[in-house]
Amino acid sequence: MTRDTNRAAIWEDGVATFYVYSGTGNSYRVAQWMAEDARAAGLKATLHLEVPHPENIPGDLVGIVVPTHGFTLASGALGWIRRLPPGNGRAAVAVVTRGSVRVAGIYVPGFEGSATLLLSLILARRGYHLVGVEAFDMPSNWTALHSGQHPDVVAAIEARTRARVGALMRAIVHNERRPLSWCTAVVGLMLLPLSLAYLLAGQQFLSMLFFAGCRCTGCGVCATYCPHEAIEMRAFTGGRRPCWTRRCRACMRCMAYCPEEAVEVSHLLAGCVLLMALALPTERLLRHIGGRIPWLGLLGRLPRWLLDPTLGVAILHLLHPGFQRWLQRPAINRFFTCATFTHRYRRYHEPATSVRDLVER
Ligand SMILES: Cc1cc2nc3c(=O)[nH]c(=O)nc-3n(C[C@H](O)[C@H](O)[C@H](O)COP(=O)(O)O)c2cc1C
Ligand code: SF4
Ligand code: SF4
Repeated sequence: MTRDTNRAAIWEDGVATFYVYSGTGNSYRVAQWMAEDARAAGLKATLHLEVPHPENIPGDLVGIVVPTHGFTLASGALGWIRRLPPGNGRAAVAVVTRGSVRVAGIYVPGFEGSATLLLSLILARRGYHLVGVEAFDMPSNWTALHSGQHPDVVAAIEARTRARVGALMRAIVHNERRPLSWCTAVVGLMLLPLSLAYLLAGQQFLSMLFFAGCRCTGCGVCATYCPHEAIEMRAFTGGRRPCWTRRCRACMRCMAYCPEEAVEVSHLLAGCVLLMALALPTERLLRHIGGRIPWLGLLGRLPRWLLDPTLGVAILHLLHPGFQRWLQRPAINRFFTCATFTHRYRRYHEPATSVRDLVER
């Protein structure tokens, strides 16, 4: 964006303050572009990773940028947003980033679900006057689910989004409003039960699958840069090793920035828990349509409470510390490392963002 002398009068001598919560740098990059464009329009723009303790945020315009997780706001970002000081009628632009991928040569956009709706509602309730709400595609960082995108795909997705960020900021500085569309609000509202399920159970389930595989050297980078202090370095016979705790919010930073690409997500454990959770309904369905799988029948004979998905997550919670210790045994660690797809997946973080950029200095 070139320096803009025609911006709306309300921003004269204005200050824009951008706040970002980011796991692997996507939201951080988008916030950087927004700040760049605000500066090009003559605003004094600053970018922060921590929300301020003082009651007052400086400036006319506040920008909030956070990622989507599980079709809603990332749970780590939720607590962070709640710490924002009251808006007192200050103008705010609310942005979520979502994960886009290329499948069979086709670019598939991300889906923010209820994320923009929830973010708008929280900010409005805190007294911010929303002048823009937007969801931007960035390369998906969900490396627990799929391999990281090829660098060319990453560059192509970022180039498109850079242009869309420019268009949003041009509109904002010219005092054009970009509200949440009715369609996004209705879809978000319909997805609220799913969002709640993700925040209450899904996220905990995902975060309990992390472990350090056999490539780990015990360097401690993952523990140092975890935004939730969820990794504890503990002493074991072979040396110091990271252990994941229940504070993890599945932001993927440890996985993205581990210098040895040693952080794994156990697909074996995920598969076992899902199998237990789905055994009973599958067995019933099969019996209903006249089919039968003998070993599913055996699982179906287990007490019902053991096969309840919510209880499954609760049991996983209880077993989690033991699982982390058990995984430190070399033979078991190697077995679990080889039994996960993430061992072969390409890692992803926003290419121009180092892990040090993601902590407030
Ligand atoms: C646990 C998890 C869940 C995700 N769920 C979604 C989703 O529901 N929809 C979507 O479009 N992207 C999803 N993503 C992708 C991220 O929203 C996207 O890559 C985002 O830009 C990451 O931003 P960050 O690097 O600032 O954390 C998910 C990523 C993770 C790690
Ligand atoms: S998992 Fe990676 S970042 Fe963490 S201690 Fe091991 S090698 Fe270092
Ligand atoms: S442990 Fe890893 S995935 Fe979990 S919150 Fe920390 S950096 Fe993010």
